Order: sequence, then structure tokens, then C-alpha cells
Amino acid sequence: EKGGFEHFMLKEIFEQPSVMHDVMRGRVRLEEGRVCLGGIEDYLDRLKQAKRIVICACGTSWHAGLIGEYLIEEFARIPVEVDYASEFRYRNPIVGKDDVVIVISQSGETADTLAALRTAKEKGALVMGICNVVGSTIARETLCGMYTHAGPEVGVASTKAFTAQVIMLYMLAMALSKGRTISHDEIILNLTELADLPAKADRILNLDGQIRDIAERFKDAKNFLYLGRGYNFPVALEGALKLKEISYIHAEGYPAAEMKHGPIALIDEDMPVIFIATRDSTYAKILSNIEEVRSRKGRVIAIASEGDKEVARLAEHVIYIPQASGPITPLLTVIPLQLLAYHIATLRGCNVDRPRNLAKSVTVE
Ligand code: M6R
Repeated sequence: EKGGFEHFMLKEIFEQPSVMHDVMRGRVRLEEGRVCLGGIEDYLDRLKQAKRIVICACGTSWHAGLIGEYLIEEFARIPVEVDYASEFRYRNPIVGKDDVVIVISQSGETADTLAALRTAKEKGALVMGICNVVGSTIARETLCGMYTHAGPEVGVASTKAFTAQVIMLYMLAMALSKGRTISHDEIILNLTELADLPAKADRILNLDGQIRDIAERFKDAKNFLYLGRGYNFPVALEGALKLKEISYIHAEGYPAAEMKHGPIALIDEDMPVIFIATRDSTYAKILSNIEEVRSRKGRVIAIASEGDKEVARLAEHVIYIPQASGPITPLLTVIPLQLLAYHIATLRGCNVDRPRNLAKSVTVE
């Protein structure tokens, strides 16, 4: 059942290239320059007219939501807010009929996310779901929605469900932009990049051995800092969450520029800092953030784009990933971070599939 892998988590990480194909199958219509999202087709016009989109979720699904915010705002130019479902539900939130509320949940059973969806519905918002489990409560209670088709996820740490959610949000951003905010040519370009994704993800999985070596060197660290900007800021949060939940090492994710406003005080020779430093619009800024950490003797592990020379000059270890444009990168940069967390946890003897104190889906508050 683990398909020859030692743990479900590793199997699910390695399934990602094929999951990426499954999520896009029948939906990405490259020749037509459009995406076809059956589950929301009847509501697409109303979705495009939304004054605002609010995304509610928990944990890893909330991180996917943050990337969704960047994608939808950049391409569709609709204002997006992302909220923890648990905060949204108790805040008497200001939402109404002009708003769209998107709930994201792998299991479709998370208590807080379900309650947020019910609150939004009562207040008259159009509620849409992005779920993995077919027929789950959230999928049934939303007005419209889309399934991620990532297949069953058994490992408590969410991996393939996350990449599937982000691809769904990318496709949604394209559907909301078409005919409004971006040209046909741009859509073709973006969908071509999306279609190229599984092959790139596959190449990253080949780096497993290198990532295991890095894990070996850092497995006894007491703390980790994860830093990224733009599209890779939510990936920093996600990388830190993965490490925390399965290895029990304290880790924090931050937008790299926020480092100066506090976390920089933590940096010394015992602090590994993971930088996501791919070549996109935030690259130059990230390089100077790396320099700041170096000059305080922090130990830098960087995720960089293939062909990059600058990062190697500054970092102790560099994991090179295939080049891609900014909006696509989170789908690639997250993979080495999943593997790093996995190897650190297994090297420390942790039960990665069933970490202590955690349930796969949190159905009580
Ligand atoms: O099933 P959901 O996507 O609603 O679950 C949300 C969180 O409980 C979940 O993502 C949790 O944070 C994972 N253990 C993260 O790996």
C-alpha cells in the first residue's frame, strides 16, 4: 500500500508529479487557451464580479490560500483576504452577497472550516469549496466547488494535497482573469508553464539524496528559520510547519524582510536559516537578506534557481531547482522543504506518518 516507500509521507511526496497531471487533466485546455472548471462553470460570471474574495482554511490549506491571494490579486485583480477559519467564524465577519468565500480543506471535515463556511452562507456570500475528499461535508455544503483529485492522503503532514490546492488556485486565477485582466497570449504562456510543472517536479525529486545529506548535518539543530518573499513567503510558513509537526524541532517561517524587525536577534552560529531565493522579482532583495544572516554567522541553506551563481557564494548549501516564473515557483520550492522535513524527522527516529498529538483531520474545535 505504501508502493515500496518506507512511509506514506514519502510516497505522497513522490506522487506529486502524477498528482499534478491528475489535477490538470481535462481542465487545462492549452490549445483553446482556457481552463475548464466544471464545478464552478455556472457561477463563473458571479465569481468574476465579486467585489472581494475571502479565503478561509486551517493549517497547510491556509498556506495554500495565501498563495491563492497572490495569484488571484496579480492576475484577476480582485481583492483577496485570507483568514484562519477559526478566527473568521468568531469575529462576526463582514461578508455579504457581493463577496465570494472560498473554503479550502483537504479532508473536507475540518470543524472550523465547516463553521466558517456556514457563517459565510448565512450572511449571504457565495461559498465555494476546494476539497480533496469527494462527498465530504464541506464539499456537500458549498454552493459550488472543485475537487483537487490528489487521491487519498494518509500521512498526517499534508504534501500532495497542498500542491494540488495551489494548482487549483492557479487555474481559478486564470479562469477569473480570462477576458478581463490578462490577454489570451498571457493565458497561453501561463498555462504552458503549468503544463511543464510535473516534469520539473520530477527533477526536484531526484535531489532526494542531496537533501538527505543536508538533513543529516542539521538534524540536531534546536531551531530553524524559514525565509521567503512574495510567492515564496507562504512556502516559508509551510516548510516550517512541516518540520515542526513531524520532527518536533521548533521552526518559524517569516517574510524575509520582516527578519530585521525581530527574528534577526535569534541568529547565531547555531541557527540554520532556510532561504527560498529563486530568480524572480524578489531575488535581489533576498540576496541582501542572506548577506545579513551570513554576517551574523547564521548557517544558510538556500533553494535557488538552476544556473544561479550568486547564491552559491553566500550559502553553505544550495538546492537547485528548475527555473520557473514567480507564480509557479511555490509549487516547486515546497518540494525540497517537504523532503528536508521528512529526512530530518526520520533521522531523529520520529513517526512521520503519525506524529504525536496530531490527527489527520481536526473535526472538533
Ligand atoms: O483537511 P484540512 O485541509 O482542512 O486540514 C487543515 C489542517 O488541519 C492541516 O492542513 C494540518 O495543518 C496538516 N497537518 C498540515 O500538514
